[in-house]
Amino acid sequence: MSTKGKVIKCKAAIAWEAGKPLCIEEVEVAPPKAHEIRIQIIATSLCHTDATVIDSKFEGLAFPVIVGHEAAGIVESIGPEVTNFKPGDKVIPLYAPHCRKCKFCLSPLTNFCGKISNLKNPATHQQLMEDKTSRFTCKGKPIYHFLGISTFSQYTVVSDINLVKIDDDANLERVCLLGCGFSTGYGAAINNAKVTPGSTCAVFGLGGVGLSAVIGCKMAGASRIIGVDINSEKFAKAKALGATECLNPRDLHKPVQEVITELTKGGVDFALDCAGGSESMKAALDCTTAGWGSCTFVGVAPGNKGLTLFPETLIIGRTINGTFFGGWKSDSIPKLVTDYKNKKFDLDALVTHTLPFDKLSEAFDLMNQGKSIRTILIF
Ligand code: APR
Ligand code: ZN
Repeated sequence: MSTKGKVIKCKAAIAWEAGKPLCIEEVEVAPPKAHEIRIQIIATSLCHTDATVIDSKFEGLAFPVIVGHEAAGIVESIGPEVTNFKPGDKVIPLYAPHCRKCKFCLSPLTNFCGKISNLKNPATHQQLMEDKTSRFTCKGKPIYHFLGISTFSQYTVVSDINLVKIDDDANLERVCLLGCGFSTGYGAAINNAKVTPGSTCAVFGLGGVGLSAVIGCKMAGASRIIGVDINSEKFAKAKALGATECLNPRDLHKPVQEVITELTKGGVDFALDCAGGSESMKAALDCTTAGWGSCTFVGVAPGNKGLTLFPETLIIGRTINGTFFGGWKSDSIPKLVTDYKNKKFDLDALVTHTLPFDKLSEAFDLMNQGKSIRTILIF
């Protein structure tokens, strides 16, 4: 029986208030309105940002909310005026909108979109649909969306600027990682840092994002990739994916940036911080070479206190940049799906666990204990 035009009742994880664990509940998902698509989520993974919400470290986020932002699914139905999607299409929802109309979308220089209006806290965008209402209800209460996509729900409604169609034969249990972690780390190396052949790189933080950055550095032809993590258990996988050596700052007798500067006779060409804390950001910047060293900020960890920057640090020729979703505009994501199918890069190595959606809290425990890289949750 077709569900088109009807309210769908399904399972979703709701964060009722900041600082409280998510509850799996039955929610009602309203049909899509103009320029909206209702999707059945098949696989969603979790990312540290979702945990940050639960830990209530996300200033300005409205509750109750359905989080989740790394997923793949199938179009269930489309609203009026939707032209690019049809029921049955395989899709990846994107928290990075692409309106194609604003000054950013019209520029080839960025993948940022003006639909993200809160520049102080870009992580609170699109908590309501364009008409300023929500499509989710639970126990009679409207529930806020998260980053325009809310993937911790078996069905979700997204705007057509937050969605891309992918190959019909795409493996949704793997390409869901292109919705955030992989694309961010890999793109940070390729699009933002623009790592060059034969260069020396340092990647700080070897979680899903950092390992993807290692893959990107290797793909770009870096000849030396130094992985840095305070958890040495991350080293084996980093080396398998391309790190040529790994360092644990906690095992060293001097600051890791000094050790890297000595090892590389003056500093690396490219450093990418994928750990997100103030300490690792500073170490990443300090270990780049004078003259042309480039440092790319990729993650923001909870409690990041920012960076005190002395002008001399840059006057000697270094640059700093940052990445938003790996610098990809939405049109690039279907191409990455095809690249994965053609074995250009490995996503399988990033998946350490696969669990039914009901075991969401177990997946969070694995992440918080540093035991997983990515856990895929299946509805
Ligand atoms: N130096 C080096 N590594 C560190 C440091 C540090 N000071 N602090 C933490 N790490 C390591 C952790 O041990 C972990 O292996 O960084 C890694 C982060 O990996 P994940 O927690 O799996 O996070 P990931 O999903 O890869 O996201 C990377 O982006 O969105 C942010 O909050 C997220 O900060 C995280 C970053
Ligand atoms: Zn735009």
